[in-house]
Amino acid sequence: MKKTVFETRMADRIDELKWLYMELYDNDSMFAELCDNIYRFHQERNDSLKRLDASREQDPAWYRRNDLLGMMFYIENFAGNLQGVRGKLDYLQENQVNVIHMMPFLDTVPGRSDGGYAVKDFRKIREDLGTMEDLEALTADCRKRHMSVCMDFVMNHTSEDHEWAVKAREGDGEYMSRYFFCNDPGYIQEYERHVPQVFPTTAPGNFTWCEANQHWVLTSFYPYQWDLNYGNPRVFNEMVYNFLYLANKGIDIIRIDAVPYIWKILGTPCRNLQQVHTIVRMMRIISEVVCPAVLLLGEVVMEPVKVAPYFGTPEKPECHMLYNVTTMCTTWNAVAMQDTVLLRQQLDIMNSLPKNDLFLNYLRCHDDIGWGLDFPTLESWGQQEVPHKRFLNQYFQGYFPGSESRGELYNDDPITQDARFCGTTASMCGLEAAIFEQDEAKMRRALDKDLMLHAFLMTQSGIPMLYSGDEIGQLNDYSYKEHPQKYDDSRYIHRGVFRWDLEPLRKQEGTTQKALFEGISQLVKIRKSHSVFDCDAASYTYDVHNPKILGMLRENADSRFIGLFNFTGEVQPAWIQEEGEFTDLLTGKKLELKDLALPANGFLWAVREK
Ligand code: GLC
Repeated sequence: MKKTVFETRMADRIDELKWLYMELYDNDSMFAELCDNIYRFHQERNDSLKRLDASREQDPAWYRRNDLLGMMFYIENFAGNLQGVRGKLDYLQENQVNVIHMMPFLDTVPGRSDGGYAVKDFRKIREDLGTMEDLEALTADCRKRHMSVCMDFVMNHTSEDHEWAVKAREGDGEYMSRYFFCNDPGYIQEYERHVPQVFPTTAPGNFTWCEANQHWVLTSFYPYQWDLNYGNPRVFNEMVYNFLYLANKGIDIIRIDAVPYIWKILGTPCRNLQQVHTIVRMMRIISEVVCPAVLLLGEVVMEPVKVAPYFGTPEKPECHMLYNVTTMCTTWNAVAMQDTVLLRQQLDIMNSLPKNDLFLNYLRCHDDIGWGLDFPTLESWGQQEVPHKRFLNQYFQGYFPGSESRGELYNDDPITQDARFCGTTASMCGLEAAIFEQDEAKMRRALDKDLMLHAFLMTQSGIPMLYSGDEIGQLNDYSYKEHPQKYDDSRYIHRGVFRWDLEPLRKQEGTTQKALFEGISQLVKIRKSHSVFDCDAASYTYDVHNPKILGMLRENADSRFIGLFNFTGEVQPAWIQEEGEFTDLLTGKKLELKDLALPANGFLWAVREK
């Protein structure tokens, strides 16, 4: 008899899945339970999603083309609730956005939520945002408009109010074994010796005392976020069921939050352990069986050598996509340094990775900028890590001569003198200072810088992700300081409410909103209509013998593209000798690429058709 689709998918993968599961858990009955549930979730998946699965299986490169543009937002900030988002899909489409990342929206406890990253119930939507039915209605609307929806799957920890944590707090051993409890101070000391802290100032230490059961519990992030013990197969199985449940609500992209942290072994830094890869690989296999339309986006905020392994190998893939975090922070380093040498080196590393590795590129996200630069290289050039970070933080706060940026430090650690940085793109580009000072020239510079950075973003291979509000140059929002649940987390400075009152100005002549909205729209339009921006095009840095200018070359069978980006506030020469006639993609004018002068904070996108 002919095998069903499910049987075929399962038959192709069961051996590897079983092998990996047994390697970690050596537990036949739990594996059998997992398989039963894999089948159940497949049965429960609705027909519309099954059709999508089939079409994406036929076209596995669907997410690798140049026509994708993402936007991320907090639902409450952007549209109040899930129903509100449905009403704003036209606006998102006007932005040419076809991937939306909605920040955590599952049930959480106000004041102990870490922006929603402390989940109380994986099967319930936060009441103020709506219901599961609303989510399904939204994802169905999006599907009709060919838009994909991304959500966070916070798998490293639960809220201390999750039902498992509540039972564990009461001393129920079955539930305690789903977390890491201990009452041996020696163990804790040893753990702290090897494991760096995530929030050294806002949440110091890796353990939190639990009065009720007289144990310490592992809390790598905030004290109310209890790390799950994936050494326990019950935890893995149940979290997989939660993942599949959410996938079946019509989610297209699952962002696996803080994935490097999910496996812990005393005496190691508890980051990126081999078992993490086994778990991600199993999730990939399981999703390919139940919901092959779904993509895994790994949140690995680390340097490229540690990030790339999360793609797995072509034979044994793990994540479909990863964040290009090092390029993001190195871009801001280039802004402050007015020098692109380190950025160029970083891009050379990225360009040398296999073409199959797909990155999500961005200028800003909801988190701080962590300055995870290539410090060994900087040190070989005589720049030490601590003073260099201090310079960057001074620069972006606007304290360094010549800086027009505004923003705030995050997790300023008095001991290591380390700090991260928060601010919106527009404020970091100088728009906030310019508007405050009513300085037209500064305003022009800020807009030019902002657009140049967006052009650079759109030039990179992968999926560009905009932060909602950046399209109209939204500024830092200091109101979080008056909010009892937010005042001590400066990341809220760039997580402001979307300014619908300013949004109409994008249609009004002479406004900053119009300059940015139209500028970014034009870039997106060009990017979507030229195959040279496709991931499969070759991509290299391009030397114009001036470190103040970043040069990028993209090439495919149809065309040769040159992008030049001036990271300084002065006109800069680009020493370049290209054969043939190019077209300026923004103006449509013909031009020769021979020794050019690039305006202050300017950029050029030029293409020669073959
Ligand atoms: C991720 C999120 C961040 C959150 C952390 C803990 O890094 O991006 O906002 O604080 O996970 O869940």
